[in-house]
Amino acid sequence: MPARNHKQWMADPQQLKRGEWVDSRIYSDPDIFEEELEKIFKKVWIPVCHESELPEPYDFRTTTIAREPIVVCRGPDNQIRAFLNVCSHRGMMIERRPSGSFLEGQPSGNPKRMTCMFHAWQYDMKGNCVYIAREKEGYQDRLCKEEMGLRRLRCEVKLGGFVWVTLNDQVELSLEEWAGEAFACIRENIDAEPLEVFHYHKSIINTNYKLWHDTNSEFYHDFMHYHNRITGFNDAYFARKNTGFKHGHVNVGSFEVKYEEYEGFESRAELSFPKLPPNQFYMIDLFPGMNFNLRGSAFRSDIVTPLGPDKVMIEFRGLGLKSDTPEERQTRIDHHNTIWGPFGRNLHEDLIGVAGQGSAMLPHSEPRRILHGRHENETVHDENGMRHYYDEWGKWMNRLPSNPEQEYRAPAVAAE
Ligand code: FES
Ligand SMILES: [Fe+2]
Repeated sequence: MPARNHKQWMADPQQLKRGEWVDSRIYSDPDIFEEELEKIFKKVWIPVCHESELPEPYDFRTTTIAREPIVVCRGPDNQIRAFLNVCSHRGMMIERRPSGSFLEGQPSGNPKRMTCMFHAWQYDMKGNCVYIAREKEGYQDRLCKEEMGLRRLRCEVKLGGFVWVTLNDQVELSLEEWAGEAFACIRENIDAEPLEVFHYHKSIINTNYKLWHDTNSEFYHDFMHYHNRITGFNDAYFARKNTGFKHGHVNVGSFEVKYEEYEGFESRAELSFPKLPPNQFYMIDLFPGMNFNLRGSAFRSDIVTPLGPDKVMIEFRGLGLKSDTPEERQTRIDHHNTIWGPFGRNLHEDLIGVAGQGSAMLPHSEPRRILHGRHENETVHDENGMRHYYDEWGKWMNRLPSNPEQEYRAPAVAAE
């Protein structure tokens, strides 16, 4: 068929089945986006940072989940806790720095306290309200600080030392039940000894967060990555499996990267993560869009914060072993940055890909069909990972990904 007229362009793909494409409105519709925040992001476990980013008691980081401000801090008892970063008095955001320490006093805050600068209410590292300015004078005995604690959030430090938080007090699944199975392939590598973040950068991209998930979970686009073509493309590369797990997560299996095939690169065998065979590569795509990527000597995490239907913030971290010598650490950083740094050989190419999709799927743009119909024995050029993911999305949203105005129905082909 030659280039298609409008009617042909808008028709469902004749030979593909339900589940093998999605409607682009799931990436662009403002109402669907709001619903995703409510039905998905406010309900699941979200990795917000890594425990090594809060190395000392009273260290903190702030972030948001589904627009709710969050503060995560390490207490004097060394425990990491999470709270809504919202004052119990008049709802001001308490801490406005992205990270820092509560140990030292601030111009309008006491040492070892989270102090709301508006009217000076103070909270300790367990979220207790410990000071209300002129408490008796204003409230007599009608309200006391003991009742005015912060909103605490469920928080776990697990799976390689990431700090996981959920806004959902009634979360049905423990973190282990939620993600444990998908992490099994790298568990012994990332939990053998403490890890440390050595690289952080973030990108704000005009695209939908799910498109970032997709580019991480399909390797068909590796034609775009010159480095992958040179160091990867061989029988073992194409034979890697995409495996779906419960709750919409997907793994991409291991293979041996031939770094020496690329000029200027070197084998990463010497600094392989504990128990990881030399130069191996594993990837975990976690629903609804977090990604963990172990590539020989460096571990990468992508944490997505959806900012709008067509805007996402992605925080990239690189991790090594806490026990690294300075020389080892420098080598790990080089290994990480040459591939995954902002000027590396791979990451920005992915960002260009999803930004290009975002440009063509602006809010209110005409619906398009986004194809996920490749079948290749569940190997890396199969699109089963995305089919698995969108089936899960459909269940959480009770919408049919290929026609989001309709209620969820199971795909007409197996999702996995
Ligand atoms: S809003 Fe925080 S002390 Fe008033
Ligand atoms: Fe890529």
